[in-house]
Amino acid sequence: MMAAAMFSVAAGKADMKSDVKPLPDARLRGTDPERYWLKVREEQFFLPKWRAFLNNGSLGVAPRPVVAAIEEYIENAAALVNDDYPRWGYETLDEERAEMAEFLGCKKDELAFTHNATEGISTVAMGLDLKAGDEVLMTDREHPSGKAGWQQRAQRHGITVREVKIPHPPKSVGQLADLLVSAIGPRTKVLSFSGILSPTGVIMPVREICAAARAKGVITFVDGAHMNGQIPLKLSDLGCDYYAGSPHKWMFAPAGCGILYIREENLDRLWPSIVTGDWDKKELKAARFMKLGTNNRATIVGMMAGLRFLKSIGPENVYERIHSLAKRNYAMAASRPYLEVLSGEDDRLYGSLVTIGFRGAKLDDLWKKARERKIWVYGSPELRLSTHIHTRVADLEAFYALVDEVVGVQASKKSSN
Ligand SMILES: Cc1ncc(COP(=O)(O)O)c(C=O)c1O
Repeated sequence: MMAAAMFSVAAGKADMKSDVKPLPDARLRGTDPERYWLKVREEQFFLPKWRAFLNNGSLGVAPRPVVAAIEEYIENAAALVNDDYPRWGYETLDEERAEMAEFLGCKKDELAFTHNATEGISTVAMGLDLKAGDEVLMTDREHPSGKAGWQQRAQRHGITVREVKIPHPPKSVGQLADLLVSAIGPRTKVLSFSGILSPTGVIMPVREICAAARAKGVITFVDGAHMNGQIPLKLSDLGCDYYAGSPHKWMFAPAGCGILYIREENLDRLWPSIVTGDWDKKELKAARFMKLGTNNRATIVGMMAGLRFLKSIGPENVYERIHSLAKRNYAMAASRPYLEVLSGEDDRLYGSLVTIGFRGAKLDDLWKKARERKIWVYGSPELRLSTHIHTRVADLEAFYALVDEVVGVQASKKSSN
């Protein structure tokens, strides 16, 4: 099927400004993978040659088919060529949720669309019945969005929030599971943790942790902001009660797209926080949680185009590519004694995200030169580097050449003094 046909969104048509080309021949991926992925970058993305982008973990990049789908939708919406209101927020978007649910491995009625992971996390943190003295357990490496909802409940309702310290680098998958499960106490009602830790990219053994928590009667919430799209995922296999994700990080969606998974048996016990009519219509299942008022439907159209783009390349091919780039990244960092790798050595502990430390080096010059050379990094002394399918090996090489120049030189001066 031609890509332009695959990504067309509605009955009505407007001229597409974004040029959408078919994907390169998949056989090239086998014979010359570097050439294949370079063609994907050059033909499917808008990224200019001069940009090295290594911070997909904060926000991903929308490819051409996504931008084309959004443009087409916005033009058609303005022309009122279709008969439905061009919005979401009252609609239940059954077809889109069914397609997304099939990809994520859950039921349509367990899935709501939101704006981002933050909204999903807050919906769960605000929407569970908890009373003073109930405890929420989390790791010490949660994103602020993963902590704030529970912290607010602590101030408002007197719940207790306790953090479990996660070592970096972690020793093993088993160590991570043991740490969280053994911390569950008699007052623990909720275990809320990231499936992939934001600051370090460490993959948590979600299934083992959720199974153990369930056996102890503890509700599990998984912050999956970095999971969907970065690693193979089937929500029903995770065994969690709630999950929130941000397809705009790893699934090619435009900014402002989120998913909230509510395991079927938990649908009725969660209170929606942003409400309009139908807030109490439990027969709507998860769709009750996307009755948020008028919203921009073009972002949902873009999210669905991103999902189809991912499916057309093949999520297993995407994972294979980004993980092999991450392993290369890990090796490049580990070969430099003046750097510290904060991700676990076992490559089951990371997907794409690899985090490095600089052993106390001065970093102002590094960030300044990175900007000058158009190398886009997160800019933190614990530096989380991301690789996606548009990342070139040359981008990593340019970054490490700069690190050698700034941090390597500092280290050798120190050792010769
Ligand atoms: C683990 C984790 N949770 C939540 C968030 C918040 O995501 P969003 O800004 O898409 O709501 C992030 C963002 O980086 C994150 O890393």
